[in-house]
Parts: sequence; C-alpha cells; structure tokens
Amino acid sequence: MRMNIVCIPGDGIGPEIVAQANRVLDRVAVKYGHEIERRDILMGGASIDVHGVPLTDEAVAQAKAADAVLMGSIGGDANTSPWYQLPPEKRPEAGLLRIRKELKLFANLRPAYLYQELAGACPLKEEISSAGFDMLIMRELTGGLYFGERHTTVENGVRRAVDTLTYDENEIRRIAVKAFDVARKRRGKVTSVDKANVLDSSRLWRSVVNEVAKAYPDVELSHMLVDNCAMQLVKDPAQFDVILTENMFGDILSDEASMVTGSIGMLSSASLNDTKFGLYEPSHGSAPDIAGRDIANPIATVLSAAMMLRYTFDLDREADAVEQAVRQVLKEGWRTADIMSEGCRLVGCRRMGELLAERI
Ligand code: IPM
Ligand code: MG
Repeated sequence: MRMNIVCIPGDGIGPEIVAQANRVLDRVAVKYGHEIERRDILMGGASIDVHGVPLTDEAVAQAKAADAVLMGSIGGDANTSPWYQLPPEKRPEAGLLRIRKELKLFANLRPAYLYQELAGACPLKEEISSAGFDMLIMRELTGGLYFGERHTTVENGVRRAVDTLTYDENEIRRIAVKAFDVARKRRGKVTSVDKANVLDSSRLWRSVVNEVAKAYPDVELSHMLVDNCAMQLVKDPAQFDVILTENMFGDILSDEASMVTGSIGMLSSASLNDTKFGLYEPSHGSAPDIAGRDIANPIATVLSAAMMLRYTFDLDREADAVEQAVRQVLKEGWRTADIMSEGCRLVGCRRMGELLAERI
C-alpha cells in the first residue's frame, strides 16, 4: 500500500516523538511491503515563528490532500513564551482547533488502558488497579464550548466574558453512532456522560443518544453525570468500556483517564471524520520543560501511528505488530523517565524508538 502522510512535528517535544513514530512506521513499511510518502507542515508555535499565524491555508490544503496526518504536539509555556502575548486567535492552540474544524474531525477516540507492566505507576490503590481497565473515550471534537460564539466586553467598567455551548441533534447523532459502532467491536458497553440535571444541551444529548441506541440493541447503554464520572474514574475505572461525551467534558475526563493509567506519555488518540481520513496525535501536550533533551516518551505517538494504520489504512496486522512491540519492550523492562521504576532500564526517546522498531 502507498500511504500519503502529512506530519506536524509541532512544538516542544513534538519533533522528537514524531521522529520516533516515523522510525517505527518506516520499519513497518519495510517489513510488510508498503510505501510511505511524507511531507511536514507547520502548525502551532512553529508556524507562528515562520508565518505569523498558527496554521496557514496552504498547510490546511496539504493536510486535506493527504490520507492521514500524524501530529506531535503544539504550544509552549503560557507564562514565558511570546506566543501567548498574541491575541487568542493567533496562539498555537488556535491552529489545532482550526485544523480539527477544517478537516471536520468530529470524533476523537482516546483509549486509556492499564498495562500490567506499568501497574506500579498507577496512582490508584492496588485493590482498584489490580482489576485493570481498558476504556475508550469518544469525545465530540468540533462543537460545544470550543466552537460556540464567544466575546469579552466591558459594561460600565465591568468586564464580562461569554462562551456558548451549542449542539444540534445531528452533531450529537453522528458522534453517538461512532461510539456505538466502536463499542460493538469492544465489550459492547456505552456510558454517555452529560450534565443533564443542569444543561439543555445535555438533555438534548441524552435524548438523541437514546434514539441512536435503538439501532444497537446488542450494546448496553447507560447515562452518567459528568461529576459522577470524574469520581467513578478513580473509584472503579474497570466499569467503563466506551465513554461517550461532548467536547469539554471529554477534554477533562481524558486527562483524568490518562493519569490513572500511570503516565500520560502512553496514551494515543485518533481524530476522525466520516471518511477514512484521520489526524493522529498523542493525548499529551508539548512538555516544553523537557523538550530537546531526548527524555520524552515516544510511545503515545507510536501508538497513535498504530491507530492510523488501523483506522485510515485498515492495516490491522501492522497495527497489531506495533502494539505488540510496545508490550514487548515494556515486558523487557525498557522505560523512559516518566514510567521508570526500580529494576527497569532507563532509555531516552530515541533509543525507545529504536527498540520499538527493532521489535517489529
Ligand atoms: C487536547 C488539548 C487541546 C484541547 C488544547 C491544546 C486546545 O488539551 O487535545 O486535549 O483542549 O482540545
Ligand atoms: Mg486536553
């Protein structure tokens, strides 16, 4: 197969981790007889530095023309980076939001899985972590508070800011369908998370999800309020299979879910639209404090590349091989600093990439 991939190395540790994911993909291509055509585009601070904006029209066009986008991370330290002196619509994050919207990437899949090898890094009590967990957060990505109208005004010397949370039923239906479809391939359970005791948008969410559920009698649906879900994630994460939720709740809950796996450096994500196209990126950020020191964990990006093989290219065998390589390397005791524990062997970002590629 010929894979046309656009890479967004981005900012902070982004370039380092994308380089290792590409090393693994190159190995997959050699081993399984595929061809990769690659092109880098700028986004975030890297684009601001060159073009003055976090994403150019040309970069969007190049991303659209590819089969898939592999992204590292964007953004810098908001307290010290000059990027954050710019107006909000010109800051690094605006590039990410724009590319999600332009490419219509409404479905964000964030798996959170506890590797037995890393159970020691799980911050939960052993009686909870020993049950293990394997969930997938299906986060709506192009609606809600992130894209609603917002403005700041001053009235009679009083500053006032407004953000709006809007969903229409079609936006809810298409993400719910994705969640039910994915649940069918997993353990057949969807927990839809909302704030229906307060918000109209959540009440609509709940009723549309109930409608969609009728076409999936084989999938078990339950509803949970978001505050309760935040609690359940640390109390009994094993209860979750697919968590379906809106944009802002998904942003918050996915960070929480990643933390209970022991390291945010392990979690991949896929952002999909209605075609085979996808943007794949680790769930973590750009970690400017450790950038350029060869100590970042590339595994989340490597696992995101595996999701790309699976969802965009339908290469399940190749995706399995990458995921297997990750398990193998962990089993052999190789660790980057963020997941290091006693008796294991510490390696840097680059060496971790080499080890993973060698095991493909
Ligand atoms: C994420 C990030 C982004 C988000 C930021 C960088 C805009 O936190 O992908 O979870 O809030 O969606
Ligand atoms: Mg986030």
